[in-house]
Amino acid sequence: MGRAFVYVIVGGGVAAGYAALEFTRKGVSDGELCIISDEPVAPYERPALSKGFLLPEDPTRLPSFHTCVGANDEILTPKWYKEHGIELVLGTRVKSVDARRLTLVTSTGETITYNFLIIATGARALKLEEFGVEGSDAENVCYLRDLSDADRLATAIQSSSNGNAVVIGGGYIGMECAASLVINKINVTMVLAGAHCMARLFTPKIATFYEDYYMGKGVKFIKGTVLTSFEFDSDKKAWHSVSVNLKDGNQLPADLVVVGIGIRPNISLFEGQLIIEKGGIKVNSQMQSSESSVYAIGDVATFPVKLYGEMRRLEHVDFARKSARHAVSAIMEPEKTGEFDYLPCFYSRFFAFSWQFYGDHVGEVVHFGEYDEGKVFGAYWVKEGHLVGCFLEGGTKEQYETISKATQLKPAVTDMEELEREGLGFTQTV
Ligand code: FDA
Repeated sequence: MGRAFVYVIVGGGVAAGYAALEFTRKGVSDGELCIISDEPVAPYERPALSKGFLLPEDPTRLPSFHTCVGANDEILTPKWYKEHGIELVLGTRVKSVDARRLTLVTSTGETITYNFLIIATGARALKLEEFGVEGSDAENVCYLRDLSDADRLATAIQSSSNGNAVVIGGGYIGMECAASLVINKINVTMVLAGAHCMARLFTPKIATFYEDYYMGKGVKFIKGTVLTSFEFDSDKKAWHSVSVNLKDGNQLPADLVVVGIGIRPNISLFEGQLIIEKGGIKVNSQMQSSESSVYAIGDVATFPVKLYGEMRRLEHVDFARKSARHAVSAIMEPEKTGEFDYLPCFYSRFFAFSWQFYGDHVGEVVHFGEYDEGKVFGAYWVKEGHLVGCFLEGGTKEQYETISKATQLKPAVTDMEELEREGLGFTQTV
């Protein structure tokens, strides 16, 4: 027994929500589209979980952050899906997919057939156990990938007021969670494996600015080391019961531990069926996988970045949104859909700061702006005489648009000192 749909999206996160909106814009008919998600709620803007969701006062809660509110589009509530004839199958895991036979089986035992499948299964948080450390199942050891993680963390935060938290990892999950913990009046120690926070993107100068600010808020940084074990009181479930042991010999008391040590794309359903590259599902410039009826979008997709002539996988919300729109367009209007020409874009927000990055962070770096004032500052990356990347803190909407356009054009840079002097003004002249 089973149902048949023209289009099925497996996974109900950011990319699925934006794909659904695009399907309705292109004119999908009632009953043609089905979204299957193992989460119990309709697609939502995942970045809210480490920001507004963790605030002590007036925290953001559903339905206010369902997609596609993050791009100033409509809020797609469960009612919206119903009104548009889209079948939302929630709280249901896809257990297996036969990509050749165009069928899948769900955790309820239902077989569903489709003409087109869009894979939007996102990623999962890496667990400490994968690095040989036991203890992730303790109530006050938290990860942050989905709504149930965020609920758990919010409860742990409430129980730890004026207590101590240890944040493992200095990526954007670590940085955003640490800021939220401080706002919740919790003492925070951040443990970083590398020399500074956001080590993959930030230059030491950018990182120093933010780290100094965090230290001013009472955050302690312990760098160049990792967590090796926990010591729990006899009952792992009790609060205030853990201490964190680090490789450098430090032992930190903790009422709460937040772990943000990276993610892995959810591709296991497709291994052996589709071509996998760089840990993701390989797609072409139409987001189409090695099986012509199967597309992949968001965190799971390894796609050709036309601008740099190489295959990449990106774990950021802007890519999830735009790759979703492109895949739907390629499926429904193939003759009108050109190659996906995407400029990588990431952003983050913590405390009153807000930054965006466009392009590629390779080559020589030039910093500009008011680092001392901490208002509007940034950096350019220049490779082989061309501007390829730009980071900006505290910009206006217009300034972000300008740097995005300029970075896409890869303008020539002949004089690095001149570029430094011109600062943000350089992109206005491009
Ligand atoms: P996403 O993870 O959103 O959705 C995947 C969905 O598929 C989930 O609902 C999952 O449960 C479901 N699923 C998986 N396997 C399944 C199966 N077998 N059957 C059924 N369902 C299945 N980015 C950024 O640029 N700036 C930012 O500030 C942030 N902030 C941020 C905060 C937090 C807390 C997180 C976790 C992430 C961010 N991100 C971010 C990253 C951004 O949210 C991420 O890139 C997008 O959510 C990716 O969208 P996807 O739809 O690909 O995956």
